[in-house]
Amino acid sequence: MSLFFSLPDEAATLALGERLGRALEAGLSIWLQGDLGAGKTTLTRGVLRGLGFAGRVKSPTYTLVELYELSRFNLYHFDLYRFADPDEWEDAGFREYFNPTSVCLVEWPDKADGRLPQPDLRVRFDIPDAGRAVWIEALTEAGSACIARLISS
Ligand SMILES: Nc1ncnc2c1ncn2[C@@H]1O[C@H](COP(=O)(O)OP(=O)(O)OP(=O)(O)O)[C@@H](O)[C@H]1O
Ligand SMILES: [Mg+2]
Repeated sequence: MSLFFSLPDEAATLALGERLGRALEAGLSIWLQGDLGAGKTTLTRGVLRGLGFAGRVKSPTYTLVELYELSRFNLYHFDLYRFADPDEWEDAGFREYFNPTSVCLVEWPDKADGRLPQPDLRVRFDIPDAGRAVWIEALTEAGSACIARLISS
């Protein structure tokens, strides 16, 4: 199952993120794919807003991961753009973050070179002449159920 959104401006990206955030359940893992500046972090800000988080959302460009302890689950926001050392994946315990009680959003998942578990949802961003084009694709049953909640929201 796959959904397409044409997002004219940043506010539209944030609004889609808020809807997606409200449709999330513990255990989901989501890949965010698209060029630099495509809107992956912006969408994540919306997701966190939709989940009631009112604080600042930093891009995890240098830290690789930021944790948000929300009422419903822990949300891990990864940015693996600068991920260089494969051993760090095990050493840092990143693997354990992908579990039934957490939600993981991952920017630049390809940089982990096959270490990540398969995602439930894949969100792909394109940069047309104006605004952004976004496809949300479900790869598992849990991902399809999330999309169904998103559609009905
Ligand atoms: N729908 C949209 N239309 C136009 N501009 C947008 C839209 N959504 C987000 N933007 C803008 O595009 C930029 C996206 O930056 P953002 O940090 O979210 O990208 P990113 O995909 O996380 O990049 P990186 O790979 O560097 O982490 C921001 O300047 C934001 O205001
Ligand atoms: Mg980013």
